[in-house]
Amino acid sequence: MPTEEQLEKFHNDIKAQSHVDEDVKKILDGFPKSAHPMGVLSSLTSALVAFNPSSVNVDSEEDMYKAIVKILAKFPVLTAWTYRKRLGLPLDYGDDSLRYVDNFVKMMFKKPSGEYTSKPTVVDALNKLLILHADHEQNCSTSTVRIVGSSHAGLFVSISAGIAALWGPLHGGANQAVIEMLEAIKEDGGDTKKFMAKAKDKDDPFRLMGFGHRVYKNFDPRAKIIKKAADDVLEDLGIEDPVLDIAKALEKEALEDPYFVERKLYPNVDFYSGIIYRALGIPVEMFTPMFALGRLPGWIAQWREMRLQKEPIGRPRQIYVGANLRSFVPIEKR
Ligand code: SDX
Repeated sequence: MPTEEQLEKFHNDIKAQSHVDEDVKKILDGFPKSAHPMGVLSSLTSALVAFNPSSVNVDSEEDMYKAIVKILAKFPVLTAWTYRKRLGLPLDYGDDSLRYVDNFVKMMFKKPSGEYTSKPTVVDALNKLLILHADHEQNCSTSTVRIVGSSHAGLFVSISAGIAALWGPLHGGANQAVIEMLEAIKEDGGDTKKFMAKAKDKDDPFRLMGFGHRVYKNFDPRAKIIKKAADDVLEDLGIEDPVLDIAKALEKEALEDPYFVERKLYPNVDFYSGIIYRALGIPVEMFTPMFALGRLPGWIAQWREMRLQKEPIGRPRQIYVGANLRSFVPIEKR
């Protein structure tokens, strides 16, 4: 862990990079307002290479450090811009005198005509969520960042690939899919048993979003913390969210259902996080970008570890089980 002096230098180096080249706005202007923020963010993160060419010098410790502080400083700005662009709001640069989350929520929510003061409940909840999402072994998106970086591709494009992987509804996109599922259950009259039956029906592609995990065959410890935080945030903000009640009913049923118990399917990190984001006024299409913002330091740390250990290029093994020899049949005879 850094000394106070090292941490102060790190913070200052990051804050010194919190501007984004005005020409990046022209790229953002090229997207329709309807573009999903994860696609926009992945594109803008790749585009940063053009404005920071030294970021591809992966053999230079100095250039690697500069690339790290740049992406840490600029990613929150790009995330806020992506959100504001959809609403037709002017793109805000925030305020370097503020702490990270205070500055981020200001960049996101400040209205052109007024001042913005963040609520301690919102900042505390977001801090908790960002920390809980920071890193998680070799999950799909982190493995993507590492394998792209293993070809000596730069940090920004490795992160861009990680954003693309995280977007999938089986991974980080699940936090958006959970809320959409809970909303659908609410619209359908709140009959959680009907949706539980769909989730267990092998002929039905429906899966209980926010449940199950590639590795965890127990209650995701992060989900326990987030569930408590969801209760606290909704109480502090005086919000009655029927979707939270449906989530709790669904959780109770799934934890008692033999199908889920036998398969060790428990709520994961995405099951409750969307309820907090929603309570904080973050729109559902921005839920997965929030996951990306939280996971960014983990992606960077893992990419840097892979580089410092001079790991060889990634090349997953494959056991070929196909045919050995097949004679070519001319197309007119097929
Ligand atoms: C994240 O890796 C990480 O660490 C990821 C993550 C991180 O921090 O980076 O933790 C973040 O991605 C969490 C996961 C978010 N995704 C979802 O909530 C989507 C819904 N979950 C499922 O799609 C699924 O559980 C996965 C994709 C998460 C895991 O897939 P697996 O490993 O293929 O599931 P499995 O092998 O454990 O499945 C075993 C059985 C199967 O049925 P059978 O063939 O045994 O009859 O359980 C079934 C599956 O069909 N099953 C589900 C289910 N998840 C698994 N059935 C209904 N609903 C579900 N959600």
